[in-house]
Amino acid sequence: MEQIPGLSSLASAYQGHMAEKRKFQAIKGTRDLLPPETELWNRVEQTAREVFGTFGFGEIRLPIIENIDLFARSIGSETDIVGKEMFSFEEYGFTALDTFRRNIITLNLVGPEPRFGFFNPQLHVDRFLEALSFSVQKGEIAKTPEVLSALENVTELRDHLTAELQKEKPDREEVRVYWSAIQQRAKNVHLGDQICLRPEATASVCRAYIQQNMQALAQPVKLYYMGPMFRRERPQKGRYRQFYQIGAEVLEAITPNTDATKTIGKDAAVDAEVIEMVMAYFARLGLEGVQLDINSIGHSAPDCRRGYVEKLKAALEKVKDKLGADSQRRIETNPLRVLDSKLESEQEIIAGLPRIGDHLCADCAKHYAEVKRQLELRGVAYRENWRLVRGLDYYMRTTFEITARGLGSQNAVCGGGRYDGLVELLGGAPTKGIGFAIGEDRVILSLQEARKEVASGEWLVASGKSACDVYVAWMGKTAEATAIRAARDLRAAGFRVELPPVEQKFGKALGQADKLGARYALILGEDEVASGEWTVKTLADGTQGKVRGEGLVAYLRRNLSEREVKQ
Ligand code: HAM
Repeated sequence: MEQIPGLSSLASAYQGHMAEKRKFQAIKGTRDLLPPETELWNRVEQTAREVFGTFGFGEIRLPIIENIDLFARSIGSETDIVGKEMFSFEEYGFTALDTFRRNIITLNLVGPEPRFGFFNPQLHVDRFLEALSFSVQKGEIAKTPEVLSALENVTELRDHLTAELQKEKPDREEVRVYWSAIQQRAKNVHLGDQICLRPEATASVCRAYIQQNMQALAQPVKLYYMGPMFRRERPQKGRYRQFYQIGAEVLEAITPNTDATKTIGKDAAVDAEVIEMVMAYFARLGLEGVQLDINSIGHSAPDCRRGYVEKLKAALEKVKDKLGADSQRRIETNPLRVLDSKLESEQEIIAGLPRIGDHLCADCAKHYAEVKRQLELRGVAYRENWRLVRGLDYYMRTTFEITARGLGSQNAVCGGGRYDGLVELLGGAPTKGIGFAIGEDRVILSLQEARKEVASGEWLVASGKSACDVYVAWMGKTAEATAIRAARDLRAAGFRVELPPVEQKFGKALGQADKLGARYALILGEDEVASGEWTVKTLADGTQGKVRGEGLVAYLRRNLSEREVKQ
């Protein structure tokens, strides 16, 4: 390839950079979850599957990436989640164009050393420009003024850069300026859709409901999901940028011409059952200090929430000077969110503000009263909290939140509510919806706080699951083959088996078995193999027994169940 005259090689500087030792760390706000803690995660998830299954819910698995507009429309563009916490990027199908663009963006033309150079950098630019104009001609990329001006602009910058590089002594600063301008322009050309990592899954469930034509199924459709969500929040205990939710949604297409006032009782019963389900789940997990708060935020009409928000706004304007900066801003953008404020100095003021409960329309008031009655029928204890408005725009009528012990300020383990109209807002038919999402990380934290031993793995033993059931201690060539076969048979029978890859002295092997928390050690030496009588040592009390190979699985099963009975 042609070398630029007068330039030394940047490649060496680049390679020097690559050789630098780098210690990679998980991205801020993300975590590695390790055994034995992951056993607890599995149990929490398995219990959800079991409990939700008994309420007739089926699992939906959703993509982690979605179109950003899906969330902007549903959660609301003025909310924190959409306004500042989305991880988003551009998506398009032009692989070659993308590669050429990436080549430009990642090429560090002016290195850290007082010299620079590279194989003809303009080639990258030429390829990019060629591919871009080709895609525009073919109609793959819209001929927007923005794209056209980028084409023109980058061509111009490329010409300046070429002229500079062809000088006998190119000016480093000039080259740097042209190159970074080209990089910026290339980076900013809008090639495709804005997509994002999902910050929650309710909008995705609604999107899937529409896309998969689920209104044609028997109604209501009851779905649950679990998986990672992403929000660029300030990380702290119980708050992460990648966190996990377990959620459930009930969606029901509205039959045309039904009298909405006639279905209020039914809707309230559905709300109460969903809440009952999550409470039953927490009870099954043994979560401690569980507190359910409920509220109704009415519906968006002048004689209901909209009227209330006007009154609230007027009341807030009167006390504006006494509020903090966040609340002052929210008077304009989202006055309901002022009620969420935890700022100490605002508490007294908020206590004196108008309350939504006094401004609900007749239907919403009836619905709220019915939800409470239904919860009482089901024996679900609740606390009314008129300030519970939630941070997402799609809610109407019922909102609820559940807190648990041991979590500090981030103590909400579940949030949910009703969202009739959301499916319609996303382009579907009129549909009702109610659901919740549980913060799995926080549930785990709360369970760990309540039972400290979980962290050390003792929980596994207490729950009958040790990380290792049988440690196969073997020595000698003939024992090796027997040990491999024994491990295979035990694993096929469902035991957790550790088979050391090389022989070990028995003392060392037993020490290792102890460290792993193994319940039994199977001891296989030349003598055992020759006689066919194997030794099984119970590590908890040091007792030993002899067993023939073919009887090993039955022996261990009997022994384990006898111990469970004694415990
Ligand atoms: P949400 O209140 O935004 O609601 O989140 C639900 C739960 O997810 C919270 O109560 C909390 O436990 C957990 N959570 C939220 N953000 C984080 C974070 N950064 N780190 C750890 N845990 C977090 C929703 O997402 C709605 N989609 C719930 C819903 C479903 N409403 C109706 N259907």
